[in-house]
Amino acid sequence: MYLKPNVVLEPLVDNWYAWSHLISPATAAMNIVGRHHTIIESYLAAPSIHAEAVLNPKMRGGPFMDFGGGRVEEVEALQQKSHQKQEKIIQFAKAVKELDKLLANEAKGFGLENLYQKVPEILKGYVELFYDRHNNPGFRFFESLLYKSEFYNKNSQSIAMWITNNDERPFCLSTPRLEEADVLHLDISFDNPVIDELAKMKRVPQTLGYIEAMLGIPTSKEELFETFFTETPPPAYQKYTGDKIRMRYFGHACILVETKDISILVDPLISYYGYHSDVNHFSDVDLPDKIDYVMITHNHQDHILFETLLPLRHKIKNLIVPRTSSGRLEDPNLKLMFETIGFENIIAMDEMETVRFSDAEITGLPFIGEHSDLNILTKTCYLVKIGEFKLLFLADSRIVEAALYDHIHREVGNVDVMFLGMECDGAPLTWLYGPLLTKKLARDMDSSRRLAGSDCEKGMALVDIFNPKETYVYAMGQEPWCEFISSIKYTDESNPIVQSDKLVKICHSRGMEAERLYGEKELLYDKQINTVES
Ligand SMILES: [Fe+2]
Repeated sequence: MYLKPNVVLEPLVDNWYAWSHLISPATAAMNIVGRHHTIIESYLAAPSIHAEAVLNPKMRGGPFMDFGGGRVEEVEALQQKSHQKQEKIIQFAKAVKELDKLLANEAKGFGLENLYQKVPEILKGYVELFYDRHNNPGFRFFESLLYKSEFYNKNSQSIAMWITNNDERPFCLSTPRLEEADVLHLDISFDNPVIDELAKMKRVPQTLGYIEAMLGIPTSKEELFETFFTETPPPAYQKYTGDKIRMRYFGHACILVETKDISILVDPLISYYGYHSDVNHFSDVDLPDKIDYVMITHNHQDHILFETLLPLRHKIKNLIVPRTSSGRLEDPNLKLMFETIGFENIIAMDEMETVRFSDAEITGLPFIGEHSDLNILTKTCYLVKIGEFKLLFLADSRIVEAALYDHIHREVGNVDVMFLGMECDGAPLTWLYGPLLTKKLARDMDSSRRLAGSDCEKGMALVDIFNPKETYVYAMGQEPWCEFISSIKYTDESNPIVQSDKLVKICHSRGMEAERLYGEKELLYDKQINTVES
């Protein structure tokens, strides 16, 4: 039997959609308490307000549960269960707030050594206190030790297994998963190799008995479990055998670059198939059996999807992530995170560092902006060079200072193809980072610090610097299968659409190729075309 192509293996933490701020213990603690528990309390206080807000397009992506005001008893039960199961984590989050207060009240520029005695008991040995150059106090976690401690609770990880027949799903950061008759809850943590065995069955058939035994499916769930499998083999993957570079856009920021010898996948977000969709799209069937390099550009929920990455884990030979070991709540270490959840061969890439293999090079480039002016290091743009051909992946970077890219251009020269995200309005700081802040941010401050990508002017500054022959706007979160994670639904009047239309038009007027990608796109390039250096 094969695993059906529209089976979702939805990773959960504490019954909420798992994303990259729910793994590293300190960051996870703040999100479980500051996001999940807060949304639950708010729902239980006024379920009908949530129901109304979910229907209001202006509130899209807000902290509102999508249960139509119902299922109150189940949400209460979830609250109780979480308070019991996450007892340690709740204490941890409380201790972090106490430490914040301690530093604000008592670290006044004098030596910090005596303050270590006053650090909350459960944080002792896990933090280093310091001042920045402005004499502001702060602390960092010894993150790798936290992963080894009681605060890394992998028992709160699980997988919800279900069949999807369309791309409609509630916004996943605001609505937890409750029991459904057609959803099978697998009580396994993300590092469990059984996930690889299950995912392999998309291509390689196995007996049901084999996988049932591995997962320990109880007799009462066998009937449901068997609906996830089929005897029909998937269409065979057509390996690229030509001499060119093949680029395939899979939607959002996900791009596969292949030659007959190598494969590179950027920011994996793979849609499902096996049901009607109005939008043509590549899917799992279009991925090679082994992927040489998977690259992650930055730590936002729409660029690191465990739902895609865990089933791909067995295919990934190398995983490149931006480097950090800052120990800050807002900047968890991605290498540590991926290692902990069972990935191997992870490369933490520094700015201007290069990995070479076959006839290809991958260089990490500085990524600026789109992080609400927080000191976050886990963000990298990538230059991929195959033969003489250069593709530049800029993800959501907002070019707050064009001179940075002048400096980069001096090192890497012109490029052939440039991919740029233009979600130029972006959510305010607190939407993503709110649970990590020590004090409430004034509304006008919050809205001045957005998770915004480049607009037309900033995008054109990049075009002027790198002189790409082709420019593609991507990472717009527009495809129907991205909405559950991006919470984006544009109209023709939406600023990101207006701005990107404008950029495309200007490029065309200069005789350059340009397009805002949507759904799917395939392009073939010659490896030996030399770019004209300026
Ligand atoms: Fe982003």
